[in-house]
Amino acid sequence: MIEYKKSFASDNNTMVHPKIMEALQSANVGHVVAYGDDSYTESAIKRFKEIFGEDIEVFFVFNGTGANVTGLAAMTMPHQGIICAESAHIQVDECGAAERFIGCRLIPVETADGKLRPEDIEPLLAVRGGQHHTQPGVVSITQSTEMGTVYSIDELKTLVDYAHSMNLTVHVDGARIANAAAYLNVDLKSITADAGIDVLSFGGTKNGLMFGEAVVFFNRTLSENYKYIRKQGMQLASKMRYIAVQFEALLTDDLWLRNAQKANAMARLLAKEVEGIPEIAITQPVQSNGVFVSMPKDAAERLLENYFFYPWNEEKGEYRWMTSFDTDEEDVRQFAETVRKACLRQA
Ligand SMILES: Cc1ncc(COP(=O)(O)O)c(C=O)c1O
Repeated sequence: MIEYKKSFASDNNTMVHPKIMEALQSANVGHVVAYGDDSYTESAIKRFKEIFGEDIEVFFVFNGTGANVTGLAAMTMPHQGIICAESAHIQVDECGAAERFIGCRLIPVETADGKLRPEDIEPLLAVRGGQHHTQPGVVSITQSTEMGTVYSIDELKTLVDYAHSMNLTVHVDGARIANAAAYLNVDLKSITADAGIDVLSFGGTKNGLMFGEAVVFFNRTLSENYKYIRKQGMQLASKMRYIAVQFEALLTDDLWLRNAQKANAMARLLAKEVEGIPEIAITQPVQSNGVFVSMPKDAAERLLENYFFYPWNEEKGEYRWMTSFDTDEEDVRQFAETVRKACLRQA
């Protein structure tokens, strides 16, 4: 029998949460109208409004890249640029989709922890009004960041207020926004609508869904043409009910929160288990469901014989370990023990 070990590579490697499977199964009866004109979609949108407030527009899409790219397309004019962290998923991991599909430049900014701050943005606005230059139009941030860090409510508000004062709108890549809310111990509205953000890519896939993300507009003037953008962007699902019911289940009985809390707790446990290993250094604060470490290359290679995970910065010997809602304490302890052994053989 093949021994199955859970991966610490990505929260995309998980199973589908059983409650989501149940929801898919329960919707799998008969015919309903396609493209979102169905009662499942209506009900899921109602649930979003209960959580984020009535004054929003919600659209379901297939994946995170699609949510980011189509959401940002609704926020930009062709001459504008999108300011983002250099580590942002839109900059690093979406194969240039934003630039190709939207036709706007990304303006990446180097950061130590994946977070943007007003002082990072200010110098980029010097080109304002110059007809030869790309005009910054949007700030896109990731919450939780690609480095596992989380913007506090104060950091968010400071950034959003600054952006708005400079006539920039704010997009949040919330592939892991549930993990951020769980870490901050706040509801989803506090770090979105109440913080003044304009558009959110709300993640589902990393938090238990089979597939599906939502684009949530808090600034409704930006949503006017979104339905056309989504269709042109190939993100309009004909069998929309199967995305909608997954979100309905995720947003029922705080499943989104319980899943995120579990994933975060397992990352904290993992950090605690490995922090005493002399060869391991934790390189980012463990605030969501990622643990970033540096370790000797050959120890990492030995570990990779048993577990799959990704290097984050090969040059620096930095690696990323991710936990998820289906990571258990035993999985963490086994993994940490294997890390210890891999490092010992190094010594
Ligand atoms: C920060 C972030 N944004 C968005 C995505 C969504 O990507 P995908 O298009 O693979 O669903 C991911 C997935 O890894 C991510 O980590």
